[in-house]
Amino acid sequence: MNLQDRTLLASGFHAPEPGVVEVLEDALIAIDDAGTIVSVMKKGDVGYDAAYEKARSKQRLSTLPSGSWLLPGMVDLHIHAPQYPQLGNALDVPLEVWLERYTFPLEARYQDAAFAKRAYSVLVDDLIANGTTTALYFATIHDEATRLLADICLEKGQRALIGKVVMDNPDQCPDYYRDASTDAALSQTRAFIDYVRAHPDNGDGRVQPVVTPRFIPSCTDEALEGLGAIAKDCGCHVQTHCSESDWEHGYVLARHGVTDTASLDRFGLLGRRSVLAHSNFLTREDMETVKVRQAAVAHCPLSNAYFANAVFPLRAALEKGLHVGLGTDISGGPSASLFENCRAAVMASRMLESGVDPALPAEQRGAGGNARIDFRDAFYLATAGGGVALDLPVGLFAPGYRFDAIAIDTNAADGTIRLWDELDSGDHILQKIINTASRANIADVWIDAKTVA
Ligand code: GUN
Ligand code: FE
Repeated sequence: MNLQDRTLLASGFHAPEPGVVEVLEDALIAIDDAGTIVSVMKKGDVGYDAAYEKARSKQRLSTLPSGSWLLPGMVDLHIHAPQYPQLGNALDVPLEVWLERYTFPLEARYQDAAFAKRAYSVLVDDLIANGTTTALYFATIHDEATRLLADICLEKGQRALIGKVVMDNPDQCPDYYRDASTDAALSQTRAFIDYVRAHPDNGDGRVQPVVTPRFIPSCTDEALEGLGAIAKDCGCHVQTHCSESDWEHGYVLARHGVTDTASLDRFGLLGRRSVLAHSNFLTREDMETVKVRQAAVAHCPLSNAYFANAVFPLRAALEKGLHVGLGTDISGGPSASLFENCRAAVMASRMLESGVDPALPAEQRGAGGNARIDFRDAFYLATAGGGVALDLPVGLFAPGYRFDAIAIDTNAADGTIRLWDELDSGDHILQKIINTASRANIADVWIDAKTVA
């Protein structure tokens, strides 16, 4: 059911802040014809009964069936769109070997537009079906394939932020998969920004271009400087990888004499609309810089288990007030589901807290202190936290926000959620949804109040 210019009566959940879940019981959500939320009323609010009667009498009321719960759509802050064909494979070697052995050869295939179209179509369909309503994508170095990804997101209705990947450093990128020159990389970046902004189907800006240096190792200093200037000039989002693994963090220290964060900052690549994937090895000073710049971290817990050599200190970052959201890091993380990544984020934080080596005494085993997060924090990261990170009005049910949402059918027979009426209530229902939902439980997906799946 399309919900533009309608009022939805539904029960659901959202998380206005880390760790804070609001239960919306029989909420009335009024939506305008552009898909913006106009008002959210809870049962018992002044005017609730009148609003209900008005919507009903004008035949503008839609009702979510009982057993279905409304959640904000999921915001995935880190996806490599071209890597989807290797999802679930190639997890056996360290990052720097993985890039050369598996990932660069796969990404190079996107020279072929027909292959790109096929792979990107399947990816966008699958992400939407998994409940991802906003996606921040790395594409490849190729113009045509990257434009196709934008076309496909526009056609299928997904909210997407997309970057043509810049990788021009001959020391770190193979001959067969590298920008032709620094100038070419910069002018292609500008051309893609223009393409997306002028796209005839993108009048409302649902798809946005992103300045995308792959990571410092793959870029020359000239490219980083040029991209910093483009970001400033165009006001675009910026995405890159930051202090991901021992090797990567060490490479930047050796080349620039400072951490990734400090280096990106010098090149003008850290701002309110910058998203740094991973950021596992941020120093105290780096965290301060990220905070001052109001940049965001895309925490990718599943991927980090394979490639990071460490667990991101998520609780510390949240307590410091950093903007943080979640990323699948397809295909570094072997799942396209942010639900899976919510579970992984909680699990990783618990292991960071307690430690993992049974040979050590308990008091020496973990990072110490309170490092854990729970399902409420994870749910926040996957929804409102992602919206804050991107500076977009998504991830919450509140006036002025886009109606990007999913309906979870807890009764779906082929689903994986089992509720017991006499046992489950309040946000424990959300806990079961976060921990046990699968694709079969995602009954509806809306973006801008339009049904997309
Ligand atoms: N660093 C540079 N490129 C990549 C990539 O494709 N995936 C991950 N996880 N890290 C990277
Ligand atoms: Fe990545």
